[in-house]
Amino acid sequence: MNNPILLSNSWYFKPQFCQEDLSHFDADADCGGWQKVNLPHTVKELPFNCFSHDETAMISSYRKDFTIPAEAAGKRIILRFDGVMAYYDLYCNGIRIGDHRGGYSISFADITDAVRFGEVNHLFLKVDSTERNDIPPFGYIVDFLTYGGIYRDVFLYTTEQTYISNVLVRYRLEEDWSLTIYPEVFFHSYEAVHHEAAVRFRLIRQDGTTVFTHTASCSISEGESSLQTSPVSVGAVELWDIDSPVLYTLETELLIDGHAADSHSTKTGFRKTECTSHGFYLNGRKIKLRGANRHQCYPYVGYAMGRGVQRKDAEIIRYEMACNTVRTSHYMQSQYFLDRCDEIGLLVFEEIPGWHYIGGEVYQNVVMNDVKMMITMDYNHPSIFIWGVRLNESNDCPELYTRTNELAKRLDPDRATTGVRYFKGSELKEDVYAINDFCHKGPKREDVLQSQRQVTGLDHDVPYLVSEFCGHVYPCKPWDNENVREEHARMHARVQSRAACTDNIMGALAWCAFDYQTHGDYGSGDKICYHGVMDMFRMPKFASYLYRSQKDPDEEIVLETTSVFSRGEKGDNKVAPVIIMTNCDFIEVELYGNSIGRFYPSNNYVGLPHPPIEISTHDSFWIEVWQGAVITGFIGARKVAERRFVRDAKLTTLEAMADQTELSSEYADDTRVTLRFLDQEGNLLPYYPGIIQVACHGDIELRGPEIFPSMGGMSAFWIRTTAAGRPGTASVTIRTLNSDLPDQTIEFRIVSWE
Ligand code: GAL
Repeated sequence: MNNPILLSNSWYFKPQFCQEDLSHFDADADCGGWQKVNLPHTVKELPFNCFSHDETAMISSYRKDFTIPAEAAGKRIILRFDGVMAYYDLYCNGIRIGDHRGGYSISFADITDAVRFGEVNHLFLKVDSTERNDIPPFGYIVDFLTYGGIYRDVFLYTTEQTYISNVLVRYRLEEDWSLTIYPEVFFHSYEAVHHEAAVRFRLIRQDGTTVFTHTASCSISEGESSLQTSPVSVGAVELWDIDSPVLYTLETELLIDGHAADSHSTKTGFRKTECTSHGFYLNGRKIKLRGANRHQCYPYVGYAMGRGVQRKDAEIIRYEMACNTVRTSHYMQSQYFLDRCDEIGLLVFEEIPGWHYIGGEVYQNVVMNDVKMMITMDYNHPSIFIWGVRLNESNDCPELYTRTNELAKRLDPDRATTGVRYFKGSELKEDVYAINDFCHKGPKREDVLQSQRQVTGLDHDVPYLVSEFCGHVYPCKPWDNENVREEHARMHARVQSRAACTDNIMGALAWCAFDYQTHGDYGSGDKICYHGVMDMFRMPKFASYLYRSQKDPDEEIVLETTSVFSRGEKGDNKVAPVIIMTNCDFIEVELYGNSIGRFYPSNNYVGLPHPPIEISTHDSFWIEVWQGAVITGFIGARKVAERRFVRDAKLTTLEAMADQTELSSEYADDTRVTLRFLDQEGNLLPYYPGIIQVACHGDIELRGPEIFPSMGGMSAFWIRTTAAGRPGTASVTIRTLNSDLPDQTIEFRIVSWE
């Protein structure tokens, strides 16, 4: 299977299901309550917060008309759904094809027998986005929302009657780091004849040069079969690493009677990962995993964000949070996200959907399918170093978890497995004991992390990972008082520092990267968990700068303060304590026009590559004339950064920046525009309550409301191309309704990437 057609444009959606729609193809789609939509799609847009958590729970319908050329007669027509929440029943031309349980797993549907070649065909999906207790993570209460609809892309493959359904690029790195490869190829044949065939492999470097070719014979019978090729030596290759994420493409051709019957192409990378009781090793080098958990939701549209935005999240975690690891909590995530993790060297802990509850037989069958689809679909991603094969924070369930772990090991003997616990002494069937350790609840230093043996109850060390910390024990909003935002950053600093200093902890993954929407059982009462080091718009809180400042200064100099040096915010008319998150060697601080000295990285966070700098005492009295502050960062004797804070800070600018200004005309391409209200020195004004209005011009549309407030002095909005197929330009106009700031316009180029 290769070169699928993206089938995500021009669907029709109805937020109900009517039996007669199944056979009522010729109805004018604009009638009968159908809305024209593009995928990814959500069944209902939600407000930012304060909505009912049931609003997206419904049975809805999707329709799509498409033509298969007459010349394709005799071929197989296969659909691939990357994500439909949470259950669908699929019909083609009124004929039922099948159903699928699970909102996060990729699914395939062979519709050949129902297709009319050379004619218009009618697809129909009845989609159930209620929280059914036969599908994980549902069954009890869950601390996140799952939304609903066809929220990822749909693809259409046209293949011969015998085709390659998948290729797992199995390999090993020898002691001299040379590569030995033994891909496993999976076939599906609808032909009664038995084929003596061959597969031809070609391994291609990023620059397009072929580094290796190999042909192996195989025999293919009707139904599903596979070929496990024998190991062959490729020789020296460039390894995939977090600092140099080198990728290769493996092309596989199926030759029947000497003719190419099918082909398959996959990107992959070669690296050695080891999860040990004394840490994590990548290609023999010990790396402390410093990362965050990611929920894949966005304001208004829930999960329904496309390629560009998924890729951007990986970039934010890697570059704006300087993390080396992400956990796809608590489910499989977009291929676009994983592809980008491969490209930029962000290690991934991927896990199956689940949250506390374990259901009955049907439910557990879905769990097993989730394990199978997660591993077979995502096997070739070099960034994935571990599979999570337990439902997050569920109780021990020896029978189920023996099966999930064994299945994972059968499909992928080389990658480590784990499962995330919240309680002590859990039975360990997987390779790595992962614990959500929320013991650190504030500045009491001794409670930073529990000891491994205290948690496992074992008398020896095992591979051990802190899979979550902080989260609900210290929520933080971008508009909270500085003290709260600062303590939030300090908590992350303490835990990451402790994890870094503790040899038998592979690393620590923050709960979490981004704020997320939730059920009424959790969060701040407005359906949001403010647990992110960034907000839901992916705008930074102080804590995210703690992460960002861990970068090598050669990559970026970071100097951020947890204060705007106003003396009325912290209480007691003091500007301190304050922490400066920086990768500078030291800073010089000027207050009231006078230098108050040099400050160096704190000894309280020695595990971090760049501990923050703490200024703990400095009194300033109410009666003195306030003069603002200047912070200057140095590397060696070189001045490399400066931040100025003025006495008379006032609203000066609305900074508006698009993540991407070139968008596709061919599919619904999303991108974000970030907004920050700044003073005359470029400092954020976190308490400025801007009312923003956005207008779109050209073939783009807004995803969310036209008028919205800033929160914490920041906001963002997403736009999407209408997939009109017309290259051209488009723009957004941004106005602040309650200020004199001038309107701004951002231009976008809409191009054809075909
Ligand atoms: C954990 C759970 C997460 C999230 C977090 C909040 O126990 O695994 O999904 O709810 O708590 O801090």
